[in-house]
Amino acid sequence: MEDVRVALLGCGTVGSQVARLLDEQAADLTARAGAWLHLEGIAVRDINAPRDQAVDRTLLTTDASSLIDGADIVIELMGGIEPARSYILEAFEHGASVVTGNKALLAAHGPELYEAAARADVDLYYEAAVAGAVPVVYGLRESLAGDRITAVLGIVNGTTNYILDEMTTKGLEFDDVLAEAQRLGYAEADPTADVDGLDAAAKCAILASLAFHSRVAMDEVHVEGIRSITSSDIAAATRAGYVIKLIASAKRRENGIEATVGPTLIPNSHPLAGVHGPFNAVVIEAEAADRLMFYGRGAGGAPTASAVLSDVVAAASHIVEGGHAPRELIYADLPVLSLEES
Ligand code: HSE
Repeated sequence: MEDVRVALLGCGTVGSQVARLLDEQAADLTARAGAWLHLEGIAVRDINAPRDQAVDRTLLTTDASSLIDGADIVIELMGGIEPARSYILEAFEHGASVVTGNKALLAAHGPELYEAAARADVDLYYEAAVAGAVPVVYGLRESLAGDRITAVLGIVNGTTNYILDEMTTKGLEFDDVLAEAQRLGYAEADPTADVDGLDAAAKCAILASLAFHSRVAMDEVHVEGIRSITSSDIAAATRAGYVIKLIASAKRRENGIEATVGPTLIPNSHPLAGVHGPFNAVVIEAEAADRLMFYGRGAGGAPTASAVLSDVVAAASHIVEGGHAPRELIYADLPVLSLEES
């Protein structure tokens, strides 16, 4: 059986779970990929930083470029724009496919990366960038490739959903719940991205680009976070039969795309009202298929690692058997509407 060499960039909450599962599930992953997935090394900033016991420390290196040089698949889980963007482009230049969970990078430079992957004739997969284990990228990219999407909306940030939920059900204060979300591994390294809605805005931009085949950048999404939500807002919503959820929404309008993220009153009877804790749910509306809902764990190391590994299996099977991931067809070029226009 062919050997597929895998390089992992980043060994945080998700990266350490990817390393663990690659080892623990080696036999199953090999059978499904049709190739022996060999983890060549893990590039990290600091070799001596404390890590999950499951990580084989002999794999750690600070030399990401050498690792990329010898890889067939590069898994990028470092986060941030640079050096992640340069490493991904370097991987494509070396003919390697890339699996990433980097939503901020895709929301800012998605089209550049899609084009670079297509030019190099390799795969770019990113299921883990949106809604953790929930296969919503696959849904838009593959399952609904034959339909015309009219709206994508839902809860795509586990941290804020967990915070709003704990404030609602336990009457806790915002700051105490945030600390717990960080401890549980849901929040970003800088939780400002979660609570100010920027993480959800990046995911909204990726979903809108995929759904409407247009370039939607993160800074074109109108964003409001949850910092200003008080316990009395929540109590008033509860009395009126509503819950407050941070909703990301991308809709096709007559004159373009409306993309927003903000706290929204959801009636208790709506399916999104029943999405609790770190769970995410995305509703997709399509002309022929009508309404679909995707639901599952949107944050946390192991659920997000599950999405990464499904992409690794797909990329590996293409290396062995031929074929490639769907190319991103950014052909429609619909404008993103300003608040006044939408
Ligand atoms: N911080 C993110 C969240 C992690 O809370 O949803 C998954 O992208």
